[in-house]
This record gives sequence, C-alpha cells and structure tokens, in this order.
Amino acid sequence: MTVKGRHILVTGGGSGVGAACARAFANSGAKVTIFGRTKEKLAAQSLPYQLCDVTDPEAVAAACDAARAEQGPIDVVVANAGAAESVPFAKMNAEVLQSMLAVNLIGVSNVWQAALPDMKGSGWGRMIAVASTAGLRGYPYVSAYCAAKHAVVGLTRALGKELARTGITVNAICPGFVETPMLERSIDNIVAKTGMSREEAASTLRADNPQGRFIQPSEVAETALWLCSEGATSINGQALSLSGGEL
Ligand SMILES: NC(=O)c1ccc[n+]([C@@H]2O[C@H](COP(=O)([O-])OP(=O)(O)OC[C@H]3O[C@@H](n4cnc5c(N)ncnc54)[C@H](OP(=O)(O)O)[C@@H]3O)[C@@H](O)[C@H]2O)c1
Repeated sequence: MTVKGRHILVTGGGSGVGAACARAFANSGAKVTIFGRTKEKLAAQSLPYQLCDVTDPEAVAAACDAARAEQGPIDVVVANAGAAESVPFAKMNAEVLQSMLAVNLIGVSNVWQAALPDMKGSGWGRMIAVASTAGLRGYPYVSAYCAAKHAVVGLTRALGKELARTGITVNAICPGFVETPMLERSIDNIVAKTGMSREEAASTLRADNPQGRFIQPSEVAETALWLCSEGATSINGQALSLSGGEL
C-alpha cells in the first residue's frame, strides 16, 4: 500500500461513503483532511477538517490552502460529496438540474482542479470520483442526477487521457445502492410517494443488484485504497462498477 504518509482529501467526509473512505485511509497511515458543509458531522469523525461547499470554487481553493498549510501538499482527492434529488422529468426544472450538476459534476471538478498543482509538483497523484451506476445507466425519476453522474464519468475519462503522462491517474468508482444516509432518504421518499412499507421499498432497490444486497460504504473505501496501490498504476480513465453485476 502506498498511501502511508500521503495527504488524502475526502469531500463529503462527514457521513456515509466519505466517512468510510476517510477512516480507511487514516487506518492505512495516510494524513486525511475531510471537507463538508456541516461542522458537527465533520467534527464527529475526529479527523482534520475544513468547512467547504464544493460547488464554490473560491471556497474550495481556500479550504485546500488551509488543508495544505496543516498537512502538506495534497496527493489524493476522493471527490465524494454528492446529492441525489428524485423528481419526475415532467416536474424537473432548471433549478433541480443546475443543483445536481453543481454538486455532482462541478464540485468534483473544483476540487480536482485545486489539488492538481500539488500532484503535478510531486509527479504522483490519484484523482478519484465517487460517481454511481447512475453514471453508467439510467434510472427513472432521477434524470438530473443520472445526467450529472454521466457527466462526471465523462470528465474522468477525458482527464485520465489528459494527465496520463504526469504520474496522476483519474478514475470514477460507480457503486449501486450503498447503505448510507442518502439511501435512507431515498427509501423514505419511496415510502412517502407510494405508500409501500420501508421493507418493500428497500427490497425494490435491492433487486437492482443481482447479488440482492446493498453495497457497504467500506467496499467503496477499499476500492479507493486499491486505486492508490502500486498494482493499480495502469488503471486510468476508468469507471469501475461496484454493483454485484448490475452492469
Ligand atoms: N448511497 C447510495 O446509494 C449511493 C450510490 C451511488 C453513489 N453514491 C454517491 O456516493 C457519494 C456519497 O454519498 P452517501 O451515500 O455517502 O450520502 P451522504 O451520507 O448524504 O453523503 C453525502 C456527503 O456529501 C456532502 N455534501 C453534499 N453537498 C455538498 C456540498 N455542496 N459541499 C460539500 N459537501 C457536500 C454531505 O455533507 P454536508 O451536507 O454536511 O455538506 C455529505 O457528507 C455521493 O456522491 C453519492 O452520489 C451514493
């Protein structure tokens, strides 16, 4: 494992997948900084943190400067912060589309761009996006989210090519439904909209995964760690499906 002593930035590190990634990297000896908008959630992780809305490029640049001042140049970004809004397409206005693009696409680009000079300077770096299977296939009632996640997969593929000779790799992890607060909110939403029980709603979502289960946040974290290992040096510009064979 090559992350010992390296500085890892994890956005959305106060909960769910981001918190699991932050813990896994810290347990592997990395210096970890987490970003998010809610102080209580960040402070609860007992890791260095910066309050930062990833959709604001100036805030991201300032938070990266503060993180660098505390723990040195940034070696790895896990651009995990994201949000999913569910609405039928007929009711999806430009505001919904813009907000999905702002956090799920532009938020990733902002953080990768702010960390890029550090990685170029050291000749080694790992840009990792937590995208989704929604970046690789469509799902009903989340067209804006799917569009934004497809866009981040496009960004990943293009940037992987652009940076291929710099020692930096760029990859997207695309999980199916992961057991996190976001999934709980999706289940609540289905219950509210359809009158299904929680278990029925959860079963409907679980059925998308041929293994019939939800992905665990730790599985995403282990994949992110692997992308930083020697063995993954040639994995670049890829969108890795973590979905039990859904696609
Ligand atoms: N759960 C799933 O089924 C699933 C499946 C596939 C992919 N994903 C992706 O996995 C990633 C993590 O989601 P999760 O499931 O762990 O959900 P989560 O627990 O809701 O985590 C999302 C995190 O992102 C942060 N965040 C949201 N907007 C932000 C912003 N503008 N600036 C900074 N931080 C922001 C949130 O913190 P604050 O609100 O405090 O800022 C929160 O900590 C997301 O990109 C999501 O799309 C999730």
